[in-house]
Amino acid sequence: MMGSSQRNVTILAIESSCDETAAAVVRNGREALSNVISSQIALHTLYGGVVPEIASRKHIEKINQVIEAALSEAQMHLAEMDAIAVTYGPGLVGPLLVGVAEAKAIAYAAQKPLIGVHHIEGHINANYIENKELEPPFLCLVVSGGHTHLVQVTDYGKYEILGRTRDDAAGEAFDKVARAIGLGYPGGPKIEQVSKEGSPDAIAFPRAKVAENPYDFSFSGVKSAVLNYINGCNMKNIPIVQADIAASFQKAVTDVLVEHAMMAVEEFQVHKFAIAGGVASNAALRNGMRKACEQRNVEFYHPSPVFCTDNAAMIGTAAYYEYLAGRRDGWDLNAVPNLKLGER
Ligand code: KG4
Ligand code: ZN
Repeated sequence: MMGSSQRNVTILAIESSCDETAAAVVRNGREALSNVISSQIALHTLYGGVVPEIASRKHIEKINQVIEAALSEAQMHLAEMDAIAVTYGPGLVGPLLVGVAEAKAIAYAAQKPLIGVHHIEGHINANYIENKELEPPFLCLVVSGGHTHLVQVTDYGKYEILGRTRDDAAGEAFDKVARAIGLGYPGGPKIEQVSKEGSPDAIAFPRAKVAENPYDFSFSGVKSAVLNYINGCNMKNIPIVQADIAASFQKAVTDVLVEHAMMAVEEFQVHKFAIAGGVASNAALRNGMRKACEQRNVEFYHPSPVFCTDNAAMIGTAAYYEYLAGRRDGWDLNAVPNLKLGER
């Protein structure tokens, strides 16, 4: 290509790993021309959590119209796409299969390259959409409903995991504690809301350390501590202050996340730190991270809430860098529910 007129790379991306059916059109990895999300939250609220079989069926019902909406919002046709990208893991096998089968069918029919994307890679790459200047290397804390990873992003598409959770994911802990104090599903946003009325110092919940790897996390202890605290109150006939429990729990979790993150920032002497995943939309976590980064002269990055929780724009962004690196998948691409980051 001559001069500055580089050809655009436009990717249609599909995400269906859990309870959102999503499609997006992403140009050159950084520009979300559309980002359509059909959430099943209301449906699963009835059951207090995601019911995989119901999620799969709902994805099948919605996926075609979500893809059509993504194309029409971007004012583009399928024929103009350079590739079709899809989340192929990790996630729920049924929901993942709906997206993978759809992406394969579209790519085959339209004769487009197919690119399978790792869901967590998508979450990390969500930071590129609104932070045009962000480039690797940087450190990223991925905190979602299924994952808690502290990751070194050494280059586009290259990840080294420093630490991970030994038990519950951070978002999972939010969801379980929310259920225990009667807030229902999904727990994260509800805990954040209720916390505003409570004191983060009201109850001293534990901040767990994992002996073998200082970067690993454990959240089952704080969850149990909340349950024990509630049982104790009930036995002693002490009224439970929901807002104080929520605020104190939120503080315990965010303190640990910030502490681990800053330990890595200092050890690896990085100047850029990003957060990603559903829990990254939590304002207490963002504020804690921002402050800690400022104190160390580290640039702090985070996606807008809509790009923190599951979406397809983040998949299109990750797919762009995979596309540039030459990755193409065959028609044998399959859903991999426990796909590891960095695995191909
Ligand atoms: O990234 P995500 O949409 O899905 C997964 O890949 O897991 O994350 C969903 C998780 C849920 O556990 C939800 O409770 C949590 O993110 N979450 C939050 C907030 N918004 C979503 N947790 C804390 N505060 C929030 N504002
Ligand atoms: Zn996710």
